[in-house]
Amino acid sequence: MTVSNPTPLTSDADWWRSAVVYQVYVRSFADSNGDGIGDLQGIRERLPYLRDLGIDALWLTPFYTSPMIDGGYDVADYRDVDPMFGTLADFDHMITDAHALGLRIIVDLVPNHTSSAHPWFQAALAAGPGSAERERYLFADGKGEQGELPPNDWESIFGGPAWTRLDDGQWYLHLFDPAQPDLNWRHPQVRAEFEDVLRFWLDRGVDGFRIDVAHGMIKADGLPDVGFNSMTTGQRQSELLGKGRLPYFDQDEVHDIYRAWRPILDSYPGGRMAVAEAWAETPQRLARYIGPDELHQAFSFDFLDATWSADSFRKVVDTALAESTIVGAPTTWVLSNHDRQRHVTRYGDGAEGLRRARAAALLMLALPGCAYVYQGEELGLPEVLDLPDELRQDPAFLRIGESRDGCRVPIPWSGELAPYGFGPEGSELSWLPAPATWRDLSVAAQTGVPGSTLELYRTALRIRRAHPALAITGGITWLETEPGLLAFSRTAGDAVLTCVVNLSGVPALVDGYGEPIVASQALTGQDAGHLLPVDAAAWFERR
Ligand code: GLC
Repeated sequence: MTVSNPTPLTSDADWWRSAVVYQVYVRSFADSNGDGIGDLQGIRERLPYLRDLGIDALWLTPFYTSPMIDGGYDVADYRDVDPMFGTLADFDHMITDAHALGLRIIVDLVPNHTSSAHPWFQAALAAGPGSAERERYLFADGKGEQGELPPNDWESIFGGPAWTRLDDGQWYLHLFDPAQPDLNWRHPQVRAEFEDVLRFWLDRGVDGFRIDVAHGMIKADGLPDVGFNSMTTGQRQSELLGKGRLPYFDQDEVHDIYRAWRPILDSYPGGRMAVAEAWAETPQRLARYIGPDELHQAFSFDFLDATWSADSFRKVVDTALAESTIVGAPTTWVLSNHDRQRHVTRYGDGAEGLRRARAAALLMLALPGCAYVYQGEELGLPEVLDLPDELRQDPAFLRIGESRDGCRVPIPWSGELAPYGFGPEGSELSWLPAPATWRDLSVAAQTGVPGSTLELYRTALRIRRAHPALAITGGITWLETEPGLLAFSRTAGDAVLTCVVNLSGVPALVDGYGEPIVASQALTGQDAGHLLPVDAAAWFERR
């Protein structure tokens, strides 16, 4: 690739505080070699697209050596690239080009569990009960006369017991799939290994880490029962995620791990950061993951559960801003990711869902803090709901019938026929099929088309970068409105930017906010004020 108009990285060590981070689900982003699977070289070729979109950084989901039982969240070698995605040299080329374009790279780190194909787990299997090799994982004897019952009542997040029994009689813990055995983080070798893995990728130039299951590494002493599970009371333990306490999540000791990691990150120049995928009982407990001696951010997932209503959205914003005040760290905003149904579909699907998703984007991008954009949301992609069961690959689908494959369908880039330019010219393969309706949603179909979702994102991201009122990381001021509307301002000196969202179900007169500079649907009216259509949002400016 030739890099035109290089915009070198800024030296700002606080870049992550107001960044827009684009999540790349590597397998589904761009396929450079025509095998139907996205890869690192594919990302490299599409970097100019991301630069032009106006994002600051990419977060890449795991691309490490893996049997791919859980889409790569089952890592067999933390220091290498799976051949499916390319080579370490591809990674190096990709990150060099990204940096030359002013884009930072965040990689996913999966420390709670390894793949069962990891050499440590293979050694543990071979060495047998009581061996030193088993101490790096959580092996235990079962209950019952013959040890035939699991050691406790813990449940896998993917459903079923969190324990699997081996032929030699012992059980091992896996909070996710049986192919993802949990590590024993009280073992010094485990700690040393991951500190080394951090350095390995920092040395290769990564700008940050997304920490998978960051709340999970330490389990309560003695592995106590939860007291209920789907088998006993019908209630799944995972329903307590983000709401209650579980003996296998959010234990105080987990913070020691991050206090050891932070000096490693800080010892590298340029503001290397880490963001936690953490679930905790209260905002206060979630805030404990963030701070000058732990991680830089924790995802705020509340938008993922918010329904389309002014009250619900306002509560999400207020809660997240209050959380960030507790620790003095910026908020993070997430409308979609690779684990949840895409927000176009959550908001009603079809034309209504798309309208609302576009409005939600303007809301999110006007808020202070860091916004995470999931690949394809800038195209307005909906969830693919009708994938044939035999093509679904999510391990949770096999265990509890819940599948995250519908948000992981390869991105449509161009052309008339599926997979719409996902692979090189003429390639017909894609690991999941794109629906026929995606022809009109491709990057090429939307580029330069006024009013397209892609151009809406580009415009909003350009303004977000340039506008003084959005450049600062301060708070927001809510404005009084008619019921069903949300309006807030951000101010820098004389410059005021106001974002108004109409969730009222009827067109709303929006007057006195200044000049409209971007709208998710065209405003009507003029002299007597502007009319903001149903399910629309707009930004207004006054200087
Ligand atoms: C995280 C990931 C998810 C994965 C799980 C197990 O929640 O986002 O995709 O299945 O961890 O690693």
